[in-house]
Amino acid sequence: MLVPALIERKRNGGALGADEWRELLTEYHQGTLPDYQMAALLMAVYFRGLAEEELQAVARTMLDSGRRMQAGAAARARADKHSTGGVGDKTSLILAPWVASCGVDVPMISGRGLGHTGGTLDKLESIPGFRTDLPLAEAADVLDRIGCVLVGQTAELAPIDRKLYALRDVTGTVESLPLIAASIMSKKLAEGLDGLVLDVKTGSGAFLTEPDQSVTLAQTMIALGEAEGCRTVALLTAMDRPLGRACGNALEVEECLMALQGQGPADLMEVTSALAAEMLVAAGAEASPDTARERLGEALTSGRALETFARIIDAQGGNAAVVEDPALLPQADAVEVFEAERDGVVTRVEPRTIGRAIVALGGGRSAVGDTIDPSVGFVITAKPGDRVTRGEGIASVFARDDAGTRLGLAALQDAITIGDDAGSTPLITHRITAAGVELLATPRRSA
Ligand code: URA
Repeated sequence: MLVPALIERKRNGGALGADEWRELLTEYHQGTLPDYQMAALLMAVYFRGLAEEELQAVARTMLDSGRRMQAGAAARARADKHSTGGVGDKTSLILAPWVASCGVDVPMISGRGLGHTGGTLDKLESIPGFRTDLPLAEAADVLDRIGCVLVGQTAELAPIDRKLYALRDVTGTVESLPLIAASIMSKKLAEGLDGLVLDVKTGSGAFLTEPDQSVTLAQTMIALGEAEGCRTVALLTAMDRPLGRACGNALEVEECLMALQGQGPADLMEVTSALAAEMLVAAGAEASPDTARERLGEALTSGRALETFARIIDAQGGNAAVVEDPALLPQADAVEVFEAERDGVVTRVEPRTIGRAIVALGGGRSAVGDTIDPSVGFVITAKPGDRVTRGEGIASVFARDDAGTRLGLAALQDAITIGDDAGSTPLITHRITAAGVELLATPRRSA
């Protein structure tokens, strides 16, 4: 294999064959193709994209480089959800036990916080004792017993993706739609799913800010899922404001516990229940989102969804007493209320500002390996469109000390705008399947 010639072909806009991709990626995995050649190739992909056949070959090679979660003894249908990431985006912690309590297995492989966005693993690890690093055999056992397991990617699953992602991270090649799609789908398809629901975020706090880019990413991932026999559907959801009220690891877990008792904020419940209903349909357990919602409603009101979460926490080494007593979660030393500075209508709660402030407070990472403080963050009760009066408490900062409190109050000042009028921003704008794009509501373009 003449690697420089392949790099040049890709750089000049040509396509590589499926066999060529397989050989390149396998040699890179084995260490016989050096980082500098793979980095050059990735940059060529960043600028030139991947043709359909190339995309399939890259994703398939990454998937085949590791093991897959085998079907369990219980032989239940399997579904999962993937979100492209946001601020206050805690739906995984709610819908995983919720869907499992409806009889569909959820073998969820999640990630850590990335930039200004939070990560499911970090949120879960704010539960004292909770382990997200289970080996595949132990994860399979928890899945079989409880119907849900919540873990991170291990060296056993899609290891080529793991090595490639680390290289992309330091070579400016993360933001390539086909590489993102192949990376995400190689891990999700290793779960042996019947159905996958993608929550593609759009808006100023999302990784992709424009709806058109989000639709393209969704369609790329759907093509990969369907090619592997996994029914894949995407919802485009708004990330032009934090989702729910709590932003920060332990605070978000507490909000999830409320949600599993049917007391979550309306926006969080709307997005989570739409995704959960799609999961039941994608898994083949329900014929339509409407009937799925009935089953989900019963699981919530009966307390089964919350009980399933407690069992997952216990099986993964966590203190399940947090379900009854959220005060057992890490608590911030300093809490300060933020007041509205004028009468008016909230026109903006900028999620990126909030996400960056959580990192600055110590609740996220600036460098790989940073330890995080799970107790810090914000609870923002005011939503765009809410009428507020001067002096009314509309948010709180949870910090380690006075300096953190000052930083948090300044971030809220920056993030929250109060004006005289606010346009409405729909939460769920598109439903995308292999059959096409359904426009559910007209999204607002980011400013
Ligand atoms: N998450 C992933 O797993 N891969 C990407 O490329 C981007 C986000």
